[in-house]
Amino acid sequence: MIQIAIDGPGGAGKSTVAKTIAAKLGIVYVDTGALYRTVGLYVDKKGVDPHDAEAVAALLPEINIEVRYENGAQHVYLNGVDHGDAIRTPKMSMYASAVSAIPAVRAFLLETQKDIARKNSVIMDGRDIGTVILPNADVKIFLTASAGCRAQRRYDELIAKGQNVKYEDVLAEMNQRDHADSTREIAPATAAPDAIVFDNSGMTPEESAAGVIKIIKEKTTAEV
Ligand code: DC
Repeated sequence: MIQIAIDGPGGAGKSTVAKTIAAKLGIVYVDTGALYRTVGLYVDKKGVDPHDAEAVAALLPEINIEVRYENGAQHVYLNGVDHGDAIRTPKMSMYASAVSAIPAVRAFLLETQKDIARKNSVIMDGRDIGTVILPNADVKIFLTASAGCRAQRRYDELIAKGQNVKYEDVLAEMNQRDHADSTREIAPATAAPDAIVFDNSGMTPEESAAGVIKIIKEKTTAEV
């Protein structure tokens, strides 16, 4: 069993790198942000303010979240329904960030994440994987890039998906979200003391993956 933790801010390319490595190693890629996005989606459906900790916590007993792997891809089922890309909108990014600062939400999602890592070799991406979820991971990487670079990647991604967004708005939202995620009281998005910080500004996805693979090879005997 192997555990690889990839943390870092939005747009650092965590999921692209993690998917590449999961495929090479034949291990499970766990996108933990999707879980917070799914809680955010439910909160939105119920018309609740995602910053209202009490109101959000009161909804948790109504939520059943199940993670399934179908043809190698992660699907998150919310009360039996897979909402696909509906969790990927800029609005859901903000909702996910807001609900993720609520301790009851983090406690609610903790066991789901730990359970997947108990049963499978994993590469998990998120904000608190190396610090909270997998404190004994074999490799911990904090993947980052300049804000401009990350916003440009996120902008390109959203445009490719046909979403009508402006670069300035994407940059502003990204800065706002990263600030909230890294300064919150509970499980802030920071590099674990034993994580390797890797800045991939200006790199292609291939170069970024190659850099991460080099770190994994140095730290483990994994045949990447
Ligand atoms: O990785 P992402 O953009 O899909 O994450 C959405 C939000 O969820 C992010 O702004 C903060 C939160 N999150 C978290 O608090 N902890 C994680 N392990 C993953 C995501």
